[in-house]
Amino acid sequence: MTAAVIVDHVSKRYRLYHERNQSLKASLLRGRRARYEDFMALDDVSFEIKEGTTFGLIGENGSGKSTMLKCMARILRPDGGSITTRGKVSALLELGAGFHPELSGRENVYLNGAILGLSRREIDALFDEIVDFSGIEQFIDAPVKNYSSGMYVRLGFAVAINVDPAVLLIDEVLAVGDQEFQNKCTDKINQFRSEGRTIVVVSHSLSSVGDLCDEAALIEHGHLVKVGPAAETIDHYLSEILSVDPATLGIARRSTGEIKLQGVELLSINGGAPDVVELGETVTFRFHYDVKESVESPVFGMSLTSSEGTLVTGTNSKEQGLSTKVSPGRGYVDLVVPRLLVAKGRYHVTGTIYDSTQKTPIHEVGNLHTFEVVEGALRTSGITSLGGVWRAGA
Ligand SMILES: Nc1ncnc2c1ncn2[C@@H]1O[C@H](COP(=O)(O)OP(=O)(O)OP(=O)(O)O)[C@@H](O)[C@H]1O
Ligand SMILES: [Mg+2]
Repeated sequence: MTAAVIVDHVSKRYRLYHERNQSLKASLLRGRRARYEDFMALDDVSFEIKEGTTFGLIGENGSGKSTMLKCMARILRPDGGSITTRGKVSALLELGAGFHPELSGRENVYLNGAILGLSRREIDALFDEIVDFSGIEQFIDAPVKNYSSGMYVRLGFAVAINVDPAVLLIDEVLAVGDQEFQNKCTDKINQFRSEGRTIVVVSHSLSSVGDLCDEAALIEHGHLVKVGPAAETIDHYLSEILSVDPATLGIARRSTGEIKLQGVELLSINGGAPDVVELGETVTFRFHYDVKESVESPVFGMSLTSSEGTLVTGTNSKEQGLSTKVSPGRGYVDLVVPRLLVAKGRYHVTGTIYDSTQKTPIHEVGNLHTFEVVEGALRTSGITSLGGVWRAGA
C-alpha cells in the first residue's frame, strides 16, 4: 500500500528565551549573550500513514502533536529529518493558524487558497461553496480578528475541505464549533473517508480517535511511543501513561475492523423532537454499521447508562435468536422497544458487536449516542417504571 505521508526521523527544536520579563537595563548589562535553551518538541520521530486511511495522533498536553501536524502542513520546518506527502495537503490547525487577523474573511479565503496553490480563478469558483459551508456569510467581509472562535473554525474548516485535498490534517479545534456544525464536519469527514482520502486527526477524545481512526501514533515528550492499530495505541496510552485499565472504560478501544458501528438513530412513532423520547413510548434504536469483510452471525449488543454513570440495562441480539450474516457495505439492525420504561433523564447508548461466540468483541463504542427521556402521560419515581396496569379489586 502506498504511503500518503512519510515521517522520517523528524526532529523539531524550539528556542525558549528566558529574558522576557527582565528590564531593558538588565539585558543591556548582560550584553549580547542570548539567554535561551533549546527544547526538543519532536525528537527523531518516524512513522508512515497509508493512503486512504484515517490516522490519529494522541498524547498529553505539550507532547508535540500540533508541532507534528504543522510540520506535515509545512508551516514549520523540521530541524532534522524530513516529511514526504503525496498529493495536496490541506489543514485545519490550531485556532487562527493560517489566518491573518487584519484581513477580512473573504481576503483570508483567497490568501489561504493561494497558499494551497490555487489560482484566483479556482478560488472564485469555490468561494460560494466555502462561504455556504461555513455558514458565516454575514461576516465574510469583517476582519477575522473580530471573529468568535467558532466562526474561525467554521471558515477554516470550510476552506480546508473545499480545496479538494488528498490529505486533510485536523487539529482538535473542531470541538469549538456548535453541535450542528460538528455534525456537519463529521459527515464531511466520513464522506472524505469513503472517497479514499487520507485524514490525520489530533484529538484528546480517545473515543473519537477509536471510532474514526484506522491507526494511531502516541507521542510523549516529543518521542514516538507507539504506532499501530488505533485500538492498540489507545490501550497503550490508557494503561501505560494514564494508568487506567482500558477494560473499565467504555470507549471505542476494541475494533478488529471487519465491521464498525457508525451510529444509532432513534425512531419514535410519535415523531417528536429528535433524541427526545417520552416515557412509555415505542422506540426503535437503529444501529448503523459498515462492513469491510463479511461476518457470520455477529451478535449486536446495546446497553444504556444513565448520566450519573449507572448501567441501567443491556440486551443483545442473540438473546432473541437473531442470526444474520452481514456482507460488505453499510446496513443496520433495529432494536424495537415497545415501551421505553426508564425514568426521565439523559442516557448514553453503548453499542457492541461480538462475533458469533460472543467471546471476541469486534467493535465497541461506549458513547455511541445520547438521548433524553421526558415524562408525558406516564410518570415514575426511581430509575425505571414497571409499566404495570392497575385494576380495581372485586
Ligand atoms: N512556538 C513555540 N515556541 C516555543 N515552544 C513551543 C512553541 N510551540 C510549542 N512549543 C512547545 O512545544 C511543546 C509541544 O507543543 P505542541 O503544541 O506540539 O503540543 P500538543 O501535543 O499539541 O499539546 P496540546 O495537547 O496541549 O495541544 C510544548 O512544550 C510547547 O510548550
Ligand atoms: Mg496541540
